[in-house]
Amino acid sequence: MNRPPRPGLTSDADVRNLASTTLLRLFDSLYEGAVVVDRAGRITWINDKYKALLGWNGADPVEGRAVEEVIPNSRLRQVMESGRAELLDVFALGSRQVVVSRIPLLDESGAVIGGLGVILYDRVQALKPIVSKFQQMQADLASARRELAETRQAKYRFSQLVGLSARLREVKDQARRAAERDATVLLLGETGTGKELMAHAIHGASRRADKPLVSLNAAAIPETLLEAELFGVEPGAFTGAGAKPRPGKFQIADGGTLFLDEVGDMPLMLQAKLLRVLQEGEVEPIGSNRLRSIDVRVIAATSRDLKAMVDGGNFRADLYYRLNVLPIRLPPLRERIEDLPVLCEALLEQIAEKAGEPVKSVSPAGLARLGAYHWPGNVRELGNILQLAAARHDARLLNPEHFDDLPVTALAAVDQDPPEEGVRALKDVLACAEKAEIIKALAAAHGVKLNAAKLLFISRAQLYEKLATHGLLSEHPDRKEAV
Ligand SMILES: Nc1ncnc2c1ncn2[C@@H]1O[C@H](COP(=O)(O)OP(=O)(O)OP(=O)(O)O)[C@@H](O)[C@H]1O
Ligand SMILES: [Mg+2]
Repeated sequence: MNRPPRPGLTSDADVRNLASTTLLRLFDSLYEGAVVVDRAGRITWINDKYKALLGWNGADPVEGRAVEEVIPNSRLRQVMESGRAELLDVFALGSRQVVVSRIPLLDESGAVIGGLGVILYDRVQALKPIVSKFQQMQADLASARRELAETRQAKYRFSQLVGLSARLREVKDQARRAAERDATVLLLGETGTGKELMAHAIHGASRRADKPLVSLNAAAIPETLLEAELFGVEPGAFTGAGAKPRPGKFQIADGGTLFLDEVGDMPLMLQAKLLRVLQEGEVEPIGSNRLRSIDVRVIAATSRDLKAMVDGGNFRADLYYRLNVLPIRLPPLRERIEDLPVLCEALLEQIAEKAGEPVKSVSPAGLARLGAYHWPGNVRELGNILQLAAARHDARLLNPEHFDDLPVTALAAVDQDPPEEGVRALKDVLACAEKAEIIKALAAAHGVKLNAAKLLFISRAQLYEKLATHGLLSEHPDRKEAV
């Protein structure tokens, strides 16, 4: 660096001038465009190629003008302000996209004295494969994020809990009051009584409504994965190098609500860990020795008799009392059978909307027939029966004869369509047979999944897996992330 100047050059300034003119010539030949601005952001030099790209006519001098006047939306000024180079960027120059670099020019003391901008490629076309791959990845990421954010919002409001009976009104009032508080809610009630719907409504009416609602179904996830799902994994001393860090549901729900569905199915070992998290407000991811504070409101639900489980030693008493702060018991449909007319009306509207068909209704005699049934599967079962009747009969008014196969055969009939003609792919035949058997088992078990799983000789988690595969499990959006 300190070599003496070549003979003929007298001073450092000469060397610097020569260096800069050489560099400018180099930029001119190397790049599709090059521009230099002074510290005030005025153009001091620009090559002809750049001027041509800008469509600048030869008559007007460019030098001395503010850079933005000549290159609209130029970012050179920001680069000089930050002092940080932008080595690769795609920049819109009129209607074309060019790839550019922007570099701040510094003096010996490190102060910014100007900026250099060069066009590396004037046709992003040359980079099209890589750029379009990048754009595709960005679009995928954005849509995945959008989807995820949507699944983490309350899907239902109190108004969607249909019913005018005193029992339901009382429960809704209780839930509204619970929504205003921040305490743990325990939703109890038979299968299909609307516990999931209620959990969404409570979150949606709480001060956490704009924060995530994250669901976890303890019955749907194999026991071995449940701990990681809930508390997360942080590779450390215990987990070894192979494990990837993964946030748990508690962490994802931070600031919002965690809906712990089928909490009665949680293994005893995890019940202890869950209790600690609820008491301390801190989680310890698997493999980590660091406690992480979390601010999560828990809404738990179960269709099991938790108290009996406590008495039988299958559920920890201390966790039961910790969850049972604001218990809400959803009444079975047979105890609010006066809600049948409004429920039928609302459900048939939903069914018609989904099918894109005119809305059907149930005649008074039809309602009497439905009212005589004991509805072990509650509102979910009612929805299934109405859907089947609406799909099978053209009549706009559903009468008792349209519900002839109530109760047991109703669901099983879904797959009793006449077989298609010709030979089908074996995997389709097997899938179809599996689906039909699952539907039959669910019908026989009145929608109680544990019993259906027993009839099929599979585990409850396997049943959930299969329900998801066959599109029979619409109300558990968290399944996508869960497995
Ligand atoms: N009061 C209600 N008004 C309208 N629809 C309802 C009502 N209760 C339940 N449903 C509908 O019935 C179905 C079952 O409800 P949900 O999934 O909330 O029940 P659940 O109590 O969580 O059942 P499970 O214990 O089997 O998980 C859903 O389609 C829900 O929209
Ligand atoms: Mg549920």
